[in-house]
Amino acid sequence: MNMVFLNGEFLPPDLACIPVLDRGFIFGDGVYELIPVYSRRPFRLAEHLRRLQHSLDGIRLANPHTEAAWGELIGELIARNEGDDQSVYLHVTRGVAKRDHAFPAGVPPTVFMMSNPLVTPAPELRETGAAAVTAVDNRWLRCDIKAISLLPNVLLRQLAVDAGAMETILLRDGFLTEGAASNIFIVHGDTLLAPPKSHLMLPGITCDVVLELAAASGIPCEVREISEFEVRGAWEIWLTSSTREVLAVTLLDGKPVGDGKPGPMFRRMHALYQEYKATVMRAPAR
Ligand code: PDD
Repeated sequence: MNMVFLNGEFLPPDLACIPVLDRGFIFGDGVYELIPVYSRRPFRLAEHLRRLQHSLDGIRLANPHTEAAWGELIGELIARNEGDDQSVYLHVTRGVAKRDHAFPAGVPPTVFMMSNPLVTPAPELRETGAAAVTAVDNRWLRCDIKAISLLPNVLLRQLAVDAGAMETILLRDGFLTEGAASNIFIVHGDTLLAPPKSHLMLPGITCDVVLELAAASGIPCEVREISEFEVRGAWEIWLTSSTREVLAVTLLDGKPVGDGKPGPMFRRMHALYQEYKATVMRAPAR
């Protein structure tokens, strides 16, 4: 049976209850992580836990667990859920307290984890690529924090759904930031381009894997500001995330990207990514 983790206990989802005054519910006052699991092994766990620490520091909330303790809890959650490939969400909120914007004193955080089957893009979608729309990035100025208060991302992503597309690509002051729930790369000629990490985007773990693979395989890569003009004239556009891995965007605002098919650089990176994943899964557990 599917099991979740809440404040020290593993239990069925129906029995996991959070008080209505939890600050996660009242204020969206918390952070989260999503960790993909392949063959029952968390992918890039240390990096995800490092980003969790960055998010917790960003909202001034003490980390309730050490890295080793997180590793054990996540391992147990994986063992208690079905399927070799899973996606583990972990959420930490500022706990339950009388409603007041100010931080409560001496309140333990709420820690929740759940695991779902990991659903990566179907092979047909990899072949056709995805459609995306663009929108003005109207989020706050701490998009580097993986905050549970995702209302702007929810509204932006819905613009894509309403247009029959998969993702909304965000532009702030005429420059690319990221997707509503992904990071974005573009290709011009033989060069891969990615926006620099800053407080305006989430430092994606998948994005780092792609940058490392590009460097290791000699793909010319520039990390720099990317203008809207360059996005619209891109030869290829990719999106990356833990669940979608690397996916080509072949239609942008209803217009084909390049020749409207996943490009050669995407095919190469997709193969490199799958190869890398297979190598990591075969390596002895750390
Ligand atoms: N989100 N940017 C945003 C705004 C995201 O929500 C995500 C992923 C990413 C990609 O990060 P990573 O490669 O570490 O998954 C970038 C996950 C999938 C989620 O919220 O479910």
